Amino acid sequence: MAPPAPRPEPAASEVPALEIPALEIPALDIDDLHVSVDDREILRGVSLKVEPGSLHALMGPNGSGKSTLANTLLASPEYVVTAGRILLDGADITDLPTDERARRGLFLGFQHPEEIPGVSVLNFLRQAIARRKGIDDFSVLEVRLSLIEWTKRLGMDNRFQERYLNEGFSGGEKKRNEVLQMAMMEPDVAVLDETDSGLDIDALRQVAAGIAEVRRARPHLGILAITHYQRLLEHLVPDVVHVLVDGRIVATGGPEISLEVEARGFEAFRAHEEARV
Ligand SMILES: Nc1ncnc2c1ncn2[C@@H]1O[C@H](COP(=O)(O)OP(=O)(O)OP(=O)(O)O)[C@@H](O)[C@H]1O
Ligand SMILES: [Mg+2]
Repeated sequence: MAPPAPRPEPAASEVPALEIPALEIPALDIDDLHVSVDDREILRGVSLKVEPGSLHALMGPNGSGKSTLANTLLASPEYVVTAGRILLDGADITDLPTDERARRGLFLGFQHPEEIPGVSVLNFLRQAIARRKGIDDFSVLEVRLSLIEWTKRLGMDNRFQERYLNEGFSGGEKKRNEVLQMAMMEPDVAVLDETDSGLDIDALRQVAAGIAEVRRARPHLGILAITHYQRLLEHLVPDVVHVLVDGRIVATGGPEISLEVEARGFEAFRAHEEARV
């Protein structure tokens, strides 16, 4: 029996141009978010979208509302959303509690991580991962193995896991521990609040390398990194930079924006915003 004749290739002119569909659902979509604390409006209509796999940096002066945004993403009760929405992988999480957000893959690294005396790094992670995976009794062995792997990948001391969470940790250790948690929680979106604060140059480089390592292991992870300075961004080049001033995003662009901040300070952006209003 003769083999079926091959189908003729379409002529190049008949092949439709390949269009990249704009259908990709943002990993994190913050839509016109207004947030008040003690009846004072701190965020005044913040919108930004973090695509899967991308790294966004959020810069802004002291008191501009960066941590307010992070705390709101965490569903911290003092932060009241008065308008707008937060979507995680396309699902509205604005009214969901902290736990449920974490379970769906949102991770938050804190500006000032809390000390939890009596809870070891290992046990904390075991509980957090169990909640994230919806498994009550997550095996210690599995967590231990993953910890060994990640402490190695992040260049951390393996004895770390037995220590109580953040108790007596140096500033640098706290931040590296946040990166370790991020790695092990396997989130889809990570919001890192000043992961660079209080770090010396070497620790900064290590933390940046750690974040890059987690991104390699989880290519679809979307990251929103909050930072004051260009320093972190030299090691961790962002895809998009946003500048937040007085609770509003006043500029969005490529890495050149962070250089502009470094060169001209935030005042220039503030003046720009005032001229716009
Ligand atoms: N829990 C709170 N109670 C009262 N006021 C708050 C609270 N959280 C934030 N604010 C106020 O909201 C404003 C923004 O603070 P926020 O911590 O979000 O700034 P930030 O941009 O993170 O600053 P920094 O760069 O100094 O970390 C400040 O005026 C602050 O006092
Ligand atoms: Mg802050």
